[in-house]
Amino acid sequence: MILSSSLDLNHPSRLRRSVLTVPAVNERALAKIASLDCDAIIFDLEDSVAPDVKAEARRKLLEFLREADLGKRERIVRVNGSDSMHYREDVAMVIAAAPEAVLLPKVEDPAEVQGVVDVLSESDAAESLRVWAMIETPRGVLNAAAIASSGRTSAGRLDAFVIGLNDLRKATRIPPDPTRRYVVPYLMQVLLAARAYGLDVIDSVSNDFSNLAAFEAECAEGAAMGFDGKMLIHPAQIAGANQHFGPSAEAVAEARLVVEAFSDPAHAGLNVINIDGRMIERLHADQAARLLERLAAIQSRKDI
Ligand code: COA
Ligand code: MG
Repeated sequence: MILSSSLDLNHPSRLRRSVLTVPAVNERALAKIASLDCDAIIFDLEDSVAPDVKAEARRKLLEFLREADLGKRERIVRVNGSDSMHYREDVAMVIAAAPEAVLLPKVEDPAEVQGVVDVLSESDAAESLRVWAMIETPRGVLNAAAIASSGRTSAGRLDAFVIGLNDLRKATRIPPDPTRRYVVPYLMQVLLAARAYGLDVIDSVSNDFSNLAAFEAECAEGAAMGFDGKMLIHPAQIAGANQHFGPSAEAVAEARLVVEAFSDPAHAGLNVINIDGRMIERLHADQAARLLERLAAIQSRKDI
């Protein structure tokens, strides 16, 4: 059994590089995840589950989450939307299964976050149970800042945004394009909203899981844009996401240099120093320390 209380998932160096999604009805895929090197798993009750098997999916997932030992992998359940007939039973199942988070699809309004938070607070759900929100509609993007800020009033449960590009492309009529040129402005808007209120943000899925070169290019782009990780649909995508959303060898070397320079007694009391002809500020030392913490967290996960 999982001892969720022993996991410090809200630590600043929590890892969400690779967030694999699994349809709750896919038993073969469910059986596989305990052997996969992903940081987090989204168990999906929404779009990947056909309407006539929603109840069966819910029942099987509850059983699975009660039995399975998934080690340090963060467990998130994606429920059906709050306007659907499945929502109440989905949320009741989440409370019974006690994963680390519930993911709301197609969030467009802060009231949707508040709604689920109220249900959780009125139940015996653990205070550590977080809420994640998918931003995947034009209104979701436009209201991202209001939704993100609602995390503060919603008992602090709101923890992460996940981008859903398939739905966003459908609604905006922007066709698929490997460079993502025309959707990038929307993605950056969501990123800024999330950062303004201390949320993590996970980049969208890439549908073509057999084209790993294109996938890796998209991971590199997502990491450069500032995403914390990527939602994945297939095990073949895990290694690339872990690599691109983890610190590179060069970044680690630079971080060590900066931390060492600031811990040199000769630099005590200085907020700005010269390293090899570059101005380095104390804020860079804070960033470097965070990067090294993430590295330590990655190394301690080798045994998941
Ligand atoms: N999680 C865990 N294991 C998975 C997986 C996933 N998301 N996708 C595939 N696998 C497993 C398969 O079960 C198979 O293992 P097995 O041989 O032991 O059964 C292995 O990985 C290879 O899979 P493959 O044959 O290449 O693909 P598939 O035809 O079984 O599945 C998809 C392809 C797209 C149907 C499947 O990857 C999937 O359902 N992904 C998630 C989709 C989703 O959740 N969408 C909603 C959010 S956008
Ligand atoms: Mg969607």
